[in-house]
Amino acid sequence: MEMRIPLSDMAYDTEEEQAALEVIQRRWLTMGSVTQKFESEFARSVGVKHALAVSNGTHALHLACLALGLGPGDEVIVPALTFVATANAVLYSGAEVRFAEIIGEDDFNISPEDIESRITPHTRAIVVVHYGGYACRMPEILEIARHHELAVIEDAAHAHGALLEDRALGTWGDAGCFSFFSNKNLATGEGGMLITDRDDIAEKVRVLRSHGMTTLTWDRHQGHAYTYDVVALGTTFLQCSRHSSTPYLSDFVA
Ligand SMILES: Cc1ncc(COP(=O)(O)O)c(C=O)c1O
Repeated sequence: MEMRIPLSDMAYDTEEEQAALEVIQRRWLTMGSVTQKFESEFARSVGVKHALAVSNGTHALHLACLALGLGPGDEVIVPALTFVATANAVLYSGAEVRFAEIIGEDDFNISPEDIESRITPHTRAIVVVHYGGYACRMPEILEIARHHELAVIEDAAHAHGALLEDRALGTWGDAGCFSFFSNKNLATGEGGMLITDRDDIAEKVRVLRSHGMTTLTWDRHQGHAYTYDVVALGTTFLQCSRHSSTPYLSDFVA
């Protein structure tokens, strides 16, 4: 069968080629000044205090769960229609997934009514997915979350640059998670971003995304730091499965 509509088609030209070349010419490929610039421009573009670059969208979701202290014994409500990573990220933290229905054939997003019906005394958080870049009913969902004292994580993997009531998707909840996988609206090949206005979440993610180290390799490379402590069981990618013998990372998050 001839494929007429590609899964994705990246509109890259000489600007991107030049940007990639400049990184290679600087001889520093990992987290450094280019990543920091990307973070600050991303934060400014969505109007949020913190933007933290991570390995991919799944990693952003996982770190959001850890930073919120989710773990064994907790339940998290997740839409029944999404990519598998949304639910996996919750399971990696040790918490249980409770699926809520979507609104229907005309709206693929999570139903606020069904969220309410899934809340139990163990529920700690709701993960919403702005499916295909269409906004979830955030005012209603935030009202439910406030009423039941639940955290809200936005899986905004499909929603770069999307707005609801003039406010960027990803900035409504406690944390917003973006993917830069090759078929996404903004693609770097692999990559992700966690955004938040909460200083406590940003602080935890900053440490957890980098092996639990208190300074970055980049800082030491520049001579801004000479040493580091390891203060948590951190990650640089997804490395903890609920079926592995590794302790849950949430056990190590203060
Ligand atoms: C809704 C949703 N959430 C999370 C992810 C995971 O992103 P990544 O592939 O960058 O880990 C994807 C990726 O396809 C996605 O579609």
